[in-house]
Amino acid sequence: MIGIFDSGYGGLTIFKYIEEKLPEYNYIYLGDNARAPYGELSQSIIYNYTKQAVDYLFAQDCDLIILACNTASSMALRKLQQEYLPKRYPDKRILGVIRPLAEAVGELTQNRAVAVMGTNSTVDSGAYINEFADIDPNIRVIQQACPLLVPLIEQSREDQPETKIVLMEYIRPLRQERPDAVVLGCTHYGFLEDLIKKYFGPETKVLNSGEVVAHKLEEYLLRHDDLVKKSDQPQRIFLTSNSSEKFDQAAQKFLGRYIKSKTINF
Ligand code: DGL
Repeated sequence: MIGIFDSGYGGLTIFKYIEEKLPEYNYIYLGDNARAPYGELSQSIIYNYTKQAVDYLFAQDCDLIILACNTASSMALRKLQQEYLPKRYPDKRILGVIRPLAEAVGELTQNRAVAVMGTNSTVDSGAYINEFADIDPNIRVIQQACPLLVPLIEQSREDQPETKIVLMEYIRPLRQERPDAVVLGCTHYGFLEDLIKKYFGPETKVLNSGEVVAHKLEEYLLRHDDLVKKSDQPQRIFLTSNSSEKFDQAAQKFLGRYIKSKTINF
């Protein structure tokens, strides 16, 4: 069983590509909608919430958990991997989205200037700066927190003038630095991918996060082929800490199909 964790709906945009590429596994998706958004919370709160989700998913028989959320990956993954997992679950694994995205974007940049867009917490954590420094210390990272984009997208205002104004405000200082690649460092920003590409111009490369994460996961599972079992009748379980009706409705947008979720308390 593979667990997919996100603060809410956004991880469904990542799961969509994972499921498409790797349909033969069982999946449990858990969205902590009752406590989302995580993007404005402190590191210790995000760590504790993510740890609770990890405990819950491991108790459901997950062998591997993907933190599909950029904010949880930036603020909690390292500590979970280095301190919590070895003590509590030495045979299980947790992966995030920061490293795969940084690797993929790092391969694209020619002039070694990369723009990162993310939530306040993701930007404050410096997680992308650290990953890029590790991949190639010559890559210059310019960050921009975009806190208004998640609520605008959740209200389906992608095409409204206010979204375009806000997005332009966020992109203007980044564009001045002439990056040639952009990290969409938040689960939601894919809904604005076309606009972001347009505002940066044709010279700037923007990648689809879901595709990148799914591709890197496929490679990881090939290297660790005894970690998770495949199934003849693969299961999909969707759990949320808030209203399941709301979750099912949002899934039509974020996942692109109808699902039936269950509310849990963890
Ligand atoms: N899933 C979060 C992320 O990718 C965005 C929503 C939130 O702030 O909780 O950063």
